[in-house]
Amino acid sequence: MSGMINDDIIEKVNDSSDLVDIVSKYLSLKRTGGNYVGLCPFHNEKTPSFTVSKTKQLFHCFGCGEGGDAISFIMKMENLSFIDAVKFLAREQGIPLEEGSSIDKELISQKEKIYEINREAARFYYYNLINNEKTLKYLKDRNINRKTLNRFGLGYAVDSWNSIYRYLQGKGYSVEDIEKAGLIARRRDGSGYYDKFRNRLMFPIIDTRGRVIGFGGRVLDDSMPKYLNTQDTIVFTKGNNLYGLNLIKDHSNRERIILVEGYMDVIALFGNGIDYGVAGLGTAFTPNQVKLLKRYGKEIYICYDSDTAGIKATMKTLKLIRKEGVEPKIIVLPSGKDPDDFINEYGLKEFQKLLDESLNHIEYEIYIYKKKYDLSDVEDKIKFTKEIAKTLRGLKSPIEKDVYIDKVSMDTGISREAIQKEVLGKKFNSSTTIRRDKYINGKYRDNKNEIKPIKTVLEPAHLTAEKTLVKMMIKNRNYYNIIKEHLTMEDFFNYECRTLVGIICDEYGNNQELVELDSSNLLEDLKGYEMDVNILGQIIDGNTEFLPEDRIKLIDDLVKTIKYYNLKIERERVTKRIQEIESSRDSEEGVVEEFKLLCLKLTELDKKLKSHI
Ligand code: GTP
Ligand code: MN
Repeated sequence: MSGMINDDIIEKVNDSSDLVDIVSKYLSLKRTGGNYVGLCPFHNEKTPSFTVSKTKQLFHCFGCGEGGDAISFIMKMENLSFIDAVKFLAREQGIPLEEGSSIDKELISQKEKIYEINREAARFYYYNLINNEKTLKYLKDRNINRKTLNRFGLGYAVDSWNSIYRYLQGKGYSVEDIEKAGLIARRRDGSGYYDKFRNRLMFPIIDTRGRVIGFGGRVLDDSMPKYLNTQDTIVFTKGNNLYGLNLIKDHSNRERIILVEGYMDVIALFGNGIDYGVAGLGTAFTPNQVKLLKRYGKEIYICYDSDTAGIKATMKTLKLIRKEGVEPKIIVLPSGKDPDDFINEYGLKEFQKLLDESLNHIEYEIYIYKKKYDLSDVEDKIKFTKEIAKTLRGLKSPIEKDVYIDKVSMDTGISREAIQKEVLGKKFNSSTTIRRDKYINGKYRDNKNEIKPIKTVLEPAHLTAEKTLVKMMIKNRNYYNIIKEHLTMEDFFNYECRTLVGIICDEYGNNQELVELDSSNLLEDLKGYEMDVNILGQIIDGNTEFLPEDRIKLIDDLVKTIKYYNLKIERERVTKRIQEIESSRDSEEGVVEEFKLLCLKLTELDKKLKSHI
């Protein structure tokens, strides 16, 4: 029957929909403290008494008394049955509905039973812990206080083969159910059952609805395996959960979330005042876990151990998170440390510093490759450049590419051109370059003997921006009007573009009636100029139909690109002059003054450049 839905889907719907988002589609909500309020859609009112709690994912109207969760909101709002409301939300969240699935009452009650057993077990372990001196001392030595112990509900599984087994049986639970919870296992010879967790520190894994879904257990010495986790059960799928998520839900403002490797790291961070740490569950990170990170933190940080395994895992997780459309930051710890070691040794302030200095994925890769290769070795240097180039090639924005090419060059002393060549590969050819010496002092000098050419490259993105803007100005006077508000003829560096801009200004200026310019007239005007016919052709015969829909936004972007590159060209000039002065060691007063001004100019340019990214 296609009218039915199973419990898994209901859970998924509940987990993946945000009530604030859902309600916002029907009425406007204002944030007041931790809640959102608006005018109740279920009764007439003039002052808002309809309240939505983001953390609890519940709504309530103080005016009419209506209340509930996402599903009940949709039921009332769309006048749907429970099932249809679930389907409605599932569709909105892109959760596939299987034909013929039904609400499995049996499974729901099975799950309830397992949650209950887990809760009882957690209580039992906790009780064991607070009565066990050895384990308490272990925690104390690891700097975990009573408050933190309670918050995480830590426990201790005593050194016995049947302690939890007997305890839970005594509470009336069946062997089958206890086994289903993953707390006991059948003996090989079939003669009975034994406790899976023995002589271990226990970490209950709790979901965002406060249910104990499984456990991690750590040995108290150096024996193996160090950790044991509950196997996947009907209530526990490792790849769909994170350790610490229950506390995030209650404590964090969801601005940030830090992903760490270990249970102990989450606990140490929490104990030191960082209540937005979570850890995977001892298995490879999954896309579903990335979704959880996204839901519970606007900014995602990765802070794994700084050993080789940690670096490898960081790279892998980084890739996975970026694939889900988020740019995480990486907190880099000093060698050999995990977050737990670090924060206990150096304290919160130092950790906060690392957080402030966290790296984006490119910066992190540069950092890693720099560690991996010896840049004083020629071979290594080439390998390094190749690896970095691979990363930079993946960047979409040419501006970003440019910034990082600069950064890598500065960081490593490898020339800008070498990196650029590697990054741009075949696309980087001389046909897109012009000699800027033509424009020294803002004037076109055609006499090649007069001025020595400086080899400078006009970036492809820059050139494209110039050409596109000129093309647009020719085709539409309105575009011309907008563009001339932002740029002058001098902002165009390409000779063909700049010349055309001059002519375009004249044409539109002389004839107020013109709505577009005629290309044959333009070519007429261009007679006598020595032009690159290739570029000219691209501009004048160029089509504008393929350009993006939002032309105003396009103009805005292109203007920004040009301004950005012009700042860079200016910066190049300033640094060149600074270097000249430095190497001449001229101490004339006028030069000293110029030097100071140049330095100020450089700072100003850097500021502007930074705000352009
Ligand atoms: P401490 O060594 O007590 O500081 O714990 P930790 O949390 O720092 O652990 P570690 O960095 O060694 O490992 C990180 C995480 O990997 C742990 O929290 C576990 O989830 C998982 N893990 C570590 N060792 C094992 C193991 O032997 N088996 C399994 N299944 N998982 C493990
Ligand atoms: Mn550790």
